[in-house]
Amino acid sequence: MTRKIIPATLIAGDGIGPEIMDATLAVLDAVEAPFEWDRQIAGMGALKDTGDPLPQATLDSIRRTRLGLKGPLETPSGGGFRSINVRLREAFKLYANIRPALTIIPGGRYDNIDLVICRENLEGLYMGFENFIAIDNDPHAVGMATGVNTRQGSRHILEYAFEYAIANGRKKVTVVHKANIMKALTGIFLETAREMYEASYKGRIEFEEVIVDACAMKLVMNPWQFDVLVTTNLFGDILSDLTSGLVGGLGMAPGANIGADAAIFEAVHGSAPDIAGKGIANPIALILASAMMLDHVGLQDKATRVRKAVGETLNVDKIRTGDLGGKANTRELTDALVRRARNG
Ligand code: NAI
Ligand code: MG
Repeated sequence: MTRKIIPATLIAGDGIGPEIMDATLAVLDAVEAPFEWDRQIAGMGALKDTGDPLPQATLDSIRRTRLGLKGPLETPSGGGFRSINVRLREAFKLYANIRPALTIIPGGRYDNIDLVICRENLEGLYMGFENFIAIDNDPHAVGMATGVNTRQGSRHILEYAFEYAIANGRKKVTVVHKANIMKALTGIFLETAREMYEASYKGRIEFEEVIVDACAMKLVMNPWQFDVLVTTNLFGDILSDLTSGLVGGLGMAPGANIGADAAIFEAVHGSAPDIAGKGIANPIALILASAMMLDHVGLQDKATRVRKAVGETLNVDKIRTGDLGGKANTRELTDALVRRARNG
């Protein structure tokens, strides 16, 4: 049998990144995923090794492969360098951040959750138009930020969300906004959503509008009322951590960054410095992200095998890491996943 080789860039990342990436590669090997990895570095590790948190070689690699699997990258808070995640999204115009929250382990605080957050990934308050204003002796007397949303940028993610919802047999798209207060910044997003729905999607799918603060409450009280949610950058970031909490936490939440020039797959969570190096991190979020990557390149059969292995390991073998209430470490969970994936 001839197998098509698929070149892809691999960034292990910071903190728990290398641990969960090893686990993910083991599972991908077990299903004979045909990726030819070009290993590159980014983030705090790259800064320490090369003096540059985003080396040119890493950008060149993604430009060539147009496909990446990435561990979390640490970003200093307050000062320091600008988020490498944000810079990667900008460099490859990764305008759609798709973050599904799906219940895999039944009997938790919430059951049968199946939501997808489609987050605008390039605009809003993430553009870095920020500065401090000095008054008298205080260089940080005022902090300010300018958010920018464009009609074009809003159209891109809204079209992605509507098309995604229809293609995946979803019932409803909810646009989440704060246009009552930020009438221009998030008003343009809402206005564009309404226009696009009227012009192209009415009758094909349900549509509703929710203000972000009420949305947060509704997601906690009755998350089943939602299906696909589409929103601006910052709200999507916050709500996707919230929805991960409906399905067992950040250890269960994968994400895809999709754009015109490339697609990069990663977990929703960060580098988890509090547990890094301890061998106890849950690799499932990144493993589920790698399944999204397999879907993206048309290898749905292998994606299904990965997801099946995850379900069987967690629910039949009942091997789970500490964040899921289990006792297994990353190694034990990975071995179990590989056994299941190989036999899938
Ligand atoms: P975090 O997501 O790294 O961790 C939040 C909490 O969840 C911690 O208690 C952590 O131990 C736990 N957790 C996260 N992933 C886990 C896993 N796989 N298994 C078990 N427990 C897990 O968020 P935090 O601490 O706010 O940020 C840490 C760093 O990560 C920061 O530098 C931040 O900028 C960066 N970050 C990077 C992201 C990316 O690369 N896409 C996304 C989010 C944050
Ligand atoms: Mg986040």
